[in-house]
Formats: sequence, structure tokens, C-alpha cells
Amino acid sequence: MKQNILELTYTLETIDIAVKRFWETLNNHTVFAFSGEMGAGKTTFIHRLCDFLAVEDTVSSPTFALVNEYHFLEVNRDSIIYHMDWYRLKSEEEAMGAGMEDYLVQAGKKQVRCFIEWPEKAMGIMPLAYVFIQIEAIDMYQRNMRVYLVNKD
Ligand SMILES: Nc1ncnc2c1ncn2[C@@H]1O[C@H](COP(=O)(O)OP(=O)(O)OP(=O)(O)O)[C@@H](O)[C@H]1O
Ligand SMILES: [Mg+2]
Repeated sequence: MKQNILELTYTLETIDIAVKRFWETLNNHTVFAFSGEMGAGKTTFIHRLCDFLAVEDTVSSPTFALVNEYHFLEVNRDSIIYHMDWYRLKSEEEAMGAGMEDYLVQAGKKQVRCFIEWPEKAMGIMPLAYVFIQIEAIDMYQRNMRVYLVNKD
């Protein structure tokens, strides 16, 4: 089942409004798959979302490290974000070998979120339920985002 629950169009000038709407709608979810071509704006959106959440750590593209860990306070409790970029992974086996599944399992618990760029590189290790985000460039400045709730049950 794939249910479209949100659609947003934004530029870098209005991205914070989009980020706010995004989090207000989806903060009770834990695993977020960000799909879109190179340069579509996956890292940029995650970066601004982390700013909105007042993440204390430096947010950067985890292309080489595969995963960055950030912390933020959520209702006075420490929450963890695992920001992953699977672009360099070649298979589900490689993703599992690199420990990517372990982060997803952790997101099953409270206070842990996973933000994944290039989820299509290892779609098979995604959990039964997650948020799928499709970002498309309309032109140099505008981006269209469609958000779906996916449930593989
Ligand atoms: N509305 C917008 N939202 C996001 N990025 C935008 C927007 N308008 C222009 N940009 C530019 O588009 C680029 C997006 O790059 P970004 O690294 O976020 O893409 P990405 O999807 O993470 O790519 P990759 O697949 O390489 O990780 C940046 O240079 C950013 O400044
Ligand atoms: Mg990126």
C-alpha cells in the first residue's frame, strides 16, 4: 500500500515553511526514504530539517561515511537521527554487511529516526512501514516533493 499524504512545492527561500509542514505531518514516523536524482535536493532538505529540529551536530552528506549520527531534543529527551546515504552501495548484501539494517532496527524503538538518501540501492532491507519522499526539480529553483506512507503488509 502506498498512500500519498503530502505534496509540497518550495524554493530555497520557502524551504523552511515546507520543512515545518513536513515535520508537523510526519514527526510520529521513524524511517524516511528520500528519493530523487542527483542534485534534486535530498541533502539540502534533510539539512534544513535538522536545523529546524535544532540538531547540535554538523550536518553533512554522508556519502563516504554511509551514515552520520545527529542528536536533538524532543520533548526534553535525547533523540537520535541516523542520516544515511546508500548511493555507493551496490547490493542489499553490501548494505547489510555495512550494518545499515541495524540502524533501521533501532528506528523501531522510540527516539530514533533514520533519514535515507538513495534508498533504491537496497530497497529490500527497508522495514514493512516507512515514509517515502520523492523530490523532483521543476527548474533551477523550484522543487516538488511528494510524500507517501508505504506499508508492505
Ligand atoms: N528548492 C531547492 N531545494 C533544494 N535544493 C535546491 C533548491 N533550489 C536549488 N537547490 C540547489 O540544488 C542542489 C541540491 O543539492 P543536494 O546536495 O541537496 O542534492 P541531493 O539530492 O542530496 O544530491 P545527491 O544525490 O548527490 O546526494 C544544491 O546546490 C541546492 O542549492
Ligand atoms: Mg545528497
